[in-house]
Amino acid sequence: MKHISVNKIFSSSKSVSLVCGRDLAPLPRLAPKLFSAADKFCLVTDRKCFSVFKRGFDRLLGNASGRTVVFETPNGAAAKNFKTLERLLAFMLKNGVSRSSLIIAAGGGSVTDLAGLAAALYMRGIKWVSVPTTLLGQADAGIGGKTAVNLGGLKNIAGAFYQPDFTVCDTSFLDSLSATELRAGAGELLKYALIAPVKPGREVLRNLSAALKGGKKELSAITSACAVFKLDLVSRDEREETGLRETLNFGHTAGHAFEAASNGSLSHGYAVLWGMRYAAMLSYKLGIMDRKAAPAVQAALQIIEPPALKTPCLNFERFNMFIRRDKKSGAHTNRFMLIVRPGVLKGVNNIPDRILKQTLRELA
Ligand SMILES: NC(=O)c1ccc[n+]([C@@H]2O[C@H](COP(=O)([O-])OP(=O)(O)OC[C@H]3O[C@@H](n4cnc5c(N)ncnc54)[C@H](O)[C@@H]3O)[C@@H](O)[C@H]2O)c1
Repeated sequence: MKHISVNKIFSSSKSVSLVCGRDLAPLPRLAPKLFSAADKFCLVTDRKCFSVFKRGFDRLLGNASGRTVVFETPNGAAAKNFKTLERLLAFMLKNGVSRSSLIIAAGGGSVTDLAGLAAALYMRGIKWVSVPTTLLGQADAGIGGKTAVNLGGLKNIAGAFYQPDFTVCDTSFLDSLSATELRAGAGELLKYALIAPVKPGREVLRNLSAALKGGKKELSAITSACAVFKLDLVSRDEREETGLRETLNFGHTAGHAFEAASNGSLSHGYAVLWGMRYAAMLSYKLGIMDRKAAPAVQAALQIIEPPALKTPCLNFERFNMFIRRDKKSGAHTNRFMLIVRPGVLKGVNNIPDRILKQTLRELA
């Protein structure tokens, strides 16, 4: 499959480019203006990615590698905190990273969330490039400019909307993911099948099974469909003000509660899959779901079987505490994105505890 290249102008007038494909050219060749204008590069990645992709990163950086300093974060979620953020900012200062330098975030969603926030904060904002290396990252986390770290056991509490100047989704990075790791990102892919318009939604469903078995063509097709859809959506509602971007939160209210309650034992993708099942049940129970659409929604949510939810996730008091503290609730007791039919979502506030509790029991 040939690569796909898209450029979107955001309401902030910022121009954001995205390239998706396989075995792509080095970054300085893909974005020559951006790279030739930079005085220095700071590659941010986690320990595991750095050891897996030593050669891959040399290829990725091309002729920029001689002017690149490398910051390694702890693996995965352990990177998303203030301690690592502060260490990263101090590292950049010590290594002479300037306002004209470029941060290159290469890793899963934890790395791109952290490095994007560092880019937003350092000297009041410097340019950054997002190079997601997980399926979840290429379909979702690495695109859209939501950057954050966790705080007080809650996800993404301190962050900023800060678009990368350039995003590269090269599916050759996905070759080192095990079948289990690929499946762990699949919840977010299924989300696209349910929130996107018919064409990209079908593209996701058509390619999902083969992609999860590591099919190269299918992985490229599915990540491109999701990434292009997300960039377009986000460019029309960058700061979640019109409700358009909020559809991306489908499954995330309960999903984040399950993820937090599991103490790291449930991956984000699987947590979102459980969260979508929960939201679909609520949608049906509250009469919001179009009855004719119910079989299609249910069938999509059964394509992947997530690991069973453990007891702490099913404790209603704990679950509800996370739901109430979810930042999307705003002034309301709670807020869920519910599904009317594939491609049509609706935000609903203040669902009574009685219904939330009953639905959690039924989900279990
Ligand atoms: N900003 C957003 O819009 C957005 C959207 C969805 C999720 N997220 C965030 O993304 C995070 C989850 O990200 P994730 O699931 O991509 O995982 P991750 O970044 O937490 O990484 C998980 C593990 O995969 C390893 N890894 C990464 N790439 C690899 C590769 N190619 N081969 C082998 N191992 C590899 C990492 O080293 C790590 O050990 C969560 O913190 C979530 O909140 C952000």
